[in-house]
Amino acid sequence: MFDRIAGVYDLMNTAMTAGMHHRWRERAADRAELEPGNSALDVCCGTGDLAFELARRVGPQGAVVGCDFSEPMLEHARRKAAERGLGQVRFEWADALELPYPDGAFDAVTVGFGARNLADLQRGLAELARVLRPGGRLVILEITQPRRPPLSIFYSLWFDRIVPVLGAVAGDSDAYAYLPQSVKRFPSPLSLAELMAASGLERIGYTVLAGGIIAIHSGARPL
Ligand SMILES: C[S@@+](CC[C@H](N)C(=O)[O-])C[C@H]1O[C@@H](n2cnc3c(N)ncnc32)[C@H](O)[C@@H]1O
Repeated sequence: MFDRIAGVYDLMNTAMTAGMHHRWRERAADRAELEPGNSALDVCCGTGDLAFELARRVGPQGAVVGCDFSEPMLEHARRKAAERGLGQVRFEWADALELPYPDGAFDAVTVGFGARNLADLQRGLAELARVLRPGGRLVILEITQPRRPPLSIFYSLWFDRIVPVLGAVAGDSDAYAYLPQSVKRFPSPLSLAELMAASGLERIGYTVLAGGIIAIHSGARPL
């Protein structure tokens, strides 16, 4: 499915969020608390936008790896990195459930709009925590469901009715009908925080943005 939508992915993000997705990625990248020269991994990187935010924070002396299991997504990410002159970021194929990196390899690990898609969330979280150095931070940016009206009503109208139509116009109604379903079955912000704790992370916190549509979680690997 992600291979199929790679070509329209960036345009659909902008259409679905009125361009706000860039700001949400900036906020998530800030939560990684990276410094110049650090190393970071962006898992489920898609077309690379969150990895680019990390690359700006680690600077030319740092290193960012973006990984994904969709080659078409990775091709878009590589092209964009070349256009932006971001030589400190590389994009490579990897399955989030079996990351090909050693324990403690990165100062920070991020996942943007990807955790929801993992076939086994608990296993994915364990992998993300494993590749963090002690003290390093995991940041998860995800869509979440607002519970209270009026936003819950607007949200339901937008995601259940309008997004699938936008997806059909963009050429893939199945993929954009999957999106609201995947949000509904994803744990609530509190449950996700509990799952992160169960993966051995500490100092867990989360912020809910955009009236309850977006959640940014962070946690640290114990020292
Ligand atoms: C909704 S996109 C998010 C892309 C990007 N992180 C962003 O912020 O826009 C989800 C991405 O997760 C990838 N993905 C899903 N499951 C994966 C897995 N097990 N391993 C690697 N990538 C995965 C998909 O290929 C897709 O590119």
